[in-house]
Amino acid sequence: MTDHYCVFGHPIGHSKSPGIHAAFAEQTGEAIDYTAIEAPLDDFAGAWRDFVAAGGRGANVTVPFKEEAFRLCEVLSPRARRAGAVNTLILGKDGQTYGDTTDGVGLVRDLERHGVTLAGARLLVLGAGGAVRGVLEPLLAAAPASLVVANRTAGKAERLAADFADLGEVRGGGFDAVSGPFDVVINGTSASLANELPPLPDDLFAAGATAYDMMYGAEPTVFLQWAGERGARGVDGLGMLVEQAAESFFQWRGRRPDTTPVLEALRRAL
Ligand code: ATR
Repeated sequence: MTDHYCVFGHPIGHSKSPGIHAAFAEQTGEAIDYTAIEAPLDDFAGAWRDFVAAGGRGANVTVPFKEEAFRLCEVLSPRARRAGAVNTLILGKDGQTYGDTTDGVGLVRDLERHGVTLAGARLLVLGAGGAVRGVLEPLLAAAPASLVVANRTAGKAERLAADFADLGEVRGGGFDAVSGPFDVVINGTSASLANELPPLPDDLFAAGATAYDMMYGAEPTVFLQWAGERGARGVDGLGMLVEQAAESFFQWRGRRPDTTPVLEALRRAL
């Protein structure tokens, strides 16, 4: 008996998730298949219903459906409720749809794998959209000394910081108010997609700082190039992609795959 999983997105053609989960399944011996489904923009809930009716057990959800997935869930994990978004759907034995988000824990695991210590660190997070909202709780749970959220639209960063202020020392504002040094700077804006760079001061990085871009590509993003020229070590988001997938796999199957060989193979194929 093979259990069916998929990733929903629009567009979805270039998703790496089917390959990642096929590798996890092979490694763990779990009998699953995993496909990519382009859900219609106006009926995500219908696409999930149809998938379940055809025997689907769970799904990943990517752009632009994470908020819609959040709304259709009957039960939400605490971290999904905080994030306001769901990237992992789980069909319960009771037939209810459970929602979780694994993006934030994926980011924190990838930082840990790179030897980055978050406890006591000065963190700067760039951006205040859904991607950033999804990672703030696990970042704050790692007990940094401080966390600054900076965004092009300052008010959005201020509101986001206020939403998470009960979890730690977090402040929000515009790029012009950013003043370093920081030990870890995480780019969660979509600026890299357009080959753009948020306007940042030159003296952003502490000695030994890490710059992390949630985006990835065959070449370093413009943000990572800029950071490297200023002495920071650069890490792209390919590891976050694999780690969030591993956490989804764990939620579905109760098994933790070894992410290292899967990440290495993806890197070679970029
Ligand atoms: P996502 O789900 O990827 O977070 P989003 O919710 O649309 O997408 O958020 C995109 C983020 O990237 C926002 O923080 C946006 O800034 P604004 O809130 O001011 O729009 C940021 N962003 C997009 N393009 C940018 C650019 N060229 N420079 C700086 N920030 C940019």
